[in-house]
Amino acid sequence: LKAGYLSRIAAASDEAALEELRLAALGKKGEISLKMRELGKMSPEERKSAGPALNALKDEIDAALRAKKAALADAALDERLKAEWLDVTLPGRPRPAGTIHPVSQVTAELTAIFADMGFQVAEGPQIETDWYNFDALNIPPEHPARQEHDTFFMARAEGDNRPPHVLRTHTSPVQIRAMAQQGAPIRVIAPGRVYRMDMDQTHAPMFHQVEGLAIDRNLSMANLKWVLEEFFSAFFGVKVATRFRASHFPFTEPSAEVDIQCSWIDGQLRIGEGDGWMEVLGSGMVHPKVLTAAGVDPDEWQGFAFGMGIDRIAMLKYGIPDLRAFFDSDLRWLRHYGFSA
Ligand code: PHE
Repeated sequence: LKAGYLSRIAAASDEAALEELRLAALGKKGEISLKMRELGKMSPEERKSAGPALNALKDEIDAALRAKKAALADAALDERLKAEWLDVTLPGRPRPAGTIHPVSQVTAELTAIFADMGFQVAEGPQIETDWYNFDALNIPPEHPARQEHDTFFMARAEGDNRPPHVLRTHTSPVQIRAMAQQGAPIRVIAPGRVYRMDMDQTHAPMFHQVEGLAIDRNLSMANLKWVLEEFFSAFFGVKVATRFRASHFPFTEPSAEVDIQCSWIDGQLRIGEGDGWMEVLGSGMVHPKVLTAAGVDPDEWQGFAFGMGIDRIAMLKYGIPDLRAFFDSDLRWLRHYGFSA
């Protein structure tokens, strides 16, 4: 009996087989348990010799079962350690890293430069009411400037009486929102996306502008010129002169288009050198009607505003030839012109 159990225990290959053997020997109806029950029917003499022998057998088999169970667990652990072995000294696998888009890069650069001059960032929605995008900026419904803006209009359901919505055609509506919220004095820039129905090498239906607005008691065109020259010089890293040309915008009076100094040297466009000029933005003194529409008293406050294409100055600074490529999401282009984080 004993030899039979011990050899079967030694041969058991898993815990389930061991458990089966345990039940067969020591379970309620196990062979050894039944024998122990028979002790009661024996004479005291017989019991004296059979009792200790049975107890010893039971202990021995129990011990053999436990030892085998521990051995199986050890073997399983060895197996796992071998299978899951990991060399922590191996070098890491390289992961492809993305790049920062030139528009994001330039937005961060110009935000930092204007922040140094006390301008905070203001924001507004890309889907605007035509009041903010036009009326409040002194562009009434019949004004020809509305046609010039090539506006995307939001479709409206029959019977929808809410004010008409457009995709903002410029960042100037943020002037109104910022002044209405913060009042005067105020100094903000508003970078963001704008939309116009236009598409060629220098125009995309979505592009980026940054609006600038400064309102105080005594601001003039001279302050505007200083701020812009300070900005362009910091942005391009060389002293850049600006040239103001008289222009017209409904929301500024007087208005000026601003050129920066540049020239072609050895087939390369050099900003801040030579006697050439390139137009980069529109600007002027904020029209009294615009101040009034935003709840600012034009008898007490005055200031300047400007609007500039972010993609445009990114192309100039980093020598990017085609505006449309900005928005193609071509990974090769992004790796070439993108910035590492
Ligand atoms: N909003 C004008 C444009 O998109 C630019 C501008 C802004 C002009 C502020 C004057 C003042 O062309």
